[in-house]
Amino acid sequence: MHSVSDYQAIISDHFSDISISREPKNLYEPIRYILNLGGKRMRPVLTLMAAEVFNADCKKALAAATAVEVFHNFSLIHDDIMDDAPLRRGHETVHEKWNINTGILSGDAMLILAYQYFEQYEPNIFRSLAKVFSKTALEVCEGQQWDVDFESREDVTIPEYLKMIEYKTAVLVGAAMKMGAIVAETSEENADLIYEFGLNLGIAFQLQDDYLDAFGDPETFGKQVGGDIIENKKTYLYLKAMEFANASEKEQLSHLFSIQPTDNADKIASVKTIFDATGASEVTQKAIKEYTFKAFDTLDKMQIETDKKEVLRAFGENLMSRNV
Ligand code: IPE
Ligand code: IPE
Ligand code: MG
Ligand code: MG
Ligand code: MG
Repeated sequence: MHSVSDYQAIISDHFSDISISREPKNLYEPIRYILNLGGKRMRPVLTLMAAEVFNADCKKALAAATAVEVFHNFSLIHDDIMDDAPLRRGHETVHEKWNINTGILSGDAMLILAYQYFEQYEPNIFRSLAKVFSKTALEVCEGQQWDVDFESREDVTIPEYLKMIEYKTAVLVGAAMKMGAIVAETSEENADLIYEFGLNLGIAFQLQDDYLDAFGDPETFGKQVGGDIIENKKTYLYLKAMEFANASEKEQLSHLFSIQPTDNADKIASVKTIFDATGASEVTQKAIKEYTFKAFDTLDKMQIETDKKEVLRAFGENLMSRNV
């Protein structure tokens, strides 16, 4: 098997090859911009990795991996509009650099471009890929709608939150891996197990994204630290803080999540203090570990060589120690 850095190099070479420079410029330039900002490229790495885990040449999965990453970047452009986010990967978001209409249309075009990559596969594989992809893309939309709905709700429960992040984030991680399995033409059982592995890793990943949104280092995080607090996002941190808070902390936190000050610095600092004081930060860290270990449990059920399981496990371990 290749190493994660090999996969990353394959993907990054491929993205510089396909760099889209068509007309009209105002449609394609933002697409090039966001794709060139790079990011971790975790999902396409997982697609290539899954293909090799099931004994296919990872290059065969490159088109599917590209589709997943283009889709992911489309979802980021639209997500940044919805979250009113100024910063992505250390640079201006597409709708800030251009405008909201550009973000909407370039995003739409990316969704279509993503689908076009599947045309490179023969009919049976094409059909299976398109099926997983369509189901997943719809679930991402559902998750994103819940995320926004929850901003203005005060009675969001932990199970509702977990469902929301499963849909907006984890299903795509699962699907990225399942697509590698489909391209490798492995058994349905294997494809489902690798999906489950990716799904649990994806839940851990979003929990950590929420954690870093509050506690990440502004110098290196690449996104606006405290963005979720500004937008009153009902994250695991918030829900657990509300659960553990004493009466006065609870009142303070729910007040802070009802105001929209012009300067958010004080709001962010106060909310973070409550996240720490209530123990919400600590249980969030614990939950990240639990979902990662749950992903590792699925590996035990998989009929693959031990060294391959180790590569997948190492990937999950590394994700837990990330700070972007
Ligand atoms: C950000 O995804 C959106 C989430 C689902 C949390 P990533 O953290 O994978 O973003 P990039 O692609 O590395 O920038
Ligand atoms: C993003 O969730 C999920 C999707 C893009 C579908 P977030 O809103 O938490 O992602 P970031 O933090 O902006 O990357
Ligand atoms: Mg966002
Ligand atoms: Mg969002
Ligand atoms: Mg986030």
